[in-house]
Amino acid sequence: MLILQKIVTFPSKTIINKIAVLLVSLLFIIGVLASDPDPLMDFCIAKSAESSLTCKNSSTATVEDFTYSGIKFPGNFKQTGFSSKGVNSNVFPGLNTLGVSFVRADFGVGGVNVPHFHPRATEVGFVLEGKVYSGFVDSNNKVFAKVLEKGEVMVFPRGLLHFQMNVGDGPATILGSFDSQNPGLMRIPNAVFGSDIKEELLEKAFGLSSKELSKLKKRFSSI
Ligand SMILES: *[C@@H]1O[C@H](CO)[C@@H](O)[C@H](O)[C@H]1NC(C)=O
Repeated sequence: MLILQKIVTFPSKTIINKIAVLLVSLLFIIGVLASDPDPLMDFCIAKSAESSLTCKNSSTATVEDFTYSGIKFPGNFKQTGFSSKGVNSNVFPGLNTLGVSFVRADFGVGGVNVPHFHPRATEVGFVLEGKVYSGFVDSNNKVFAKVLEKGEVMVFPRGLLHFQMNVGDGPATILGSFDSQNPGLMRIPNAVFGSDIKEELLEKAFGLSSKELSKLKKRFSSI
């Protein structure tokens, strides 16, 4: 009887293990499918930003196609004390089909990178300079945030709302890396108040008077 039980329980454990392995493999496959597709060639330098699917003849490629010097310096600062230069396959055609891109972000003292998300990529943010309060919100509205120092890194999972603020007494700079050649960017204030969503809806949704709404629309209509 005891022996029989052992024989019976042993294979069922194996089956559970097999199911676990299958589930983990499935999750992995889903994870892989969620990223940019794998390249089919060594590289595919986009002929133009509009036609990223058309590759430049590879025998005409030079090292210049694989280098980029547009983020040596910060971009223009917004009224939030923040400047960013996104380097995706549209501005750096050499990234086309490679599934990666990056951004340089600079903060004046107290500068803020408003809550935003990237619909197509997970981001890793590396603090090159300064002290940056950095965080994201998960789908239960739980906030994961802390002050990062120079040399520290934070990961912002794909599609989740995240934000940053320079809390040091000097400028701050971050290099963000994405697992997509074109991560996309949706800034919440701009997407909500800078777009053409019907005013009545926004007033009701946020409990705003038309005067308060027009102030917000004015502030966020220019990106
Ligand atoms: C690419 O360029 C090389 C050299 O100019 C040429 O021989 C080749 O035919 C071109 N390939 C295509 C697909 O146009």
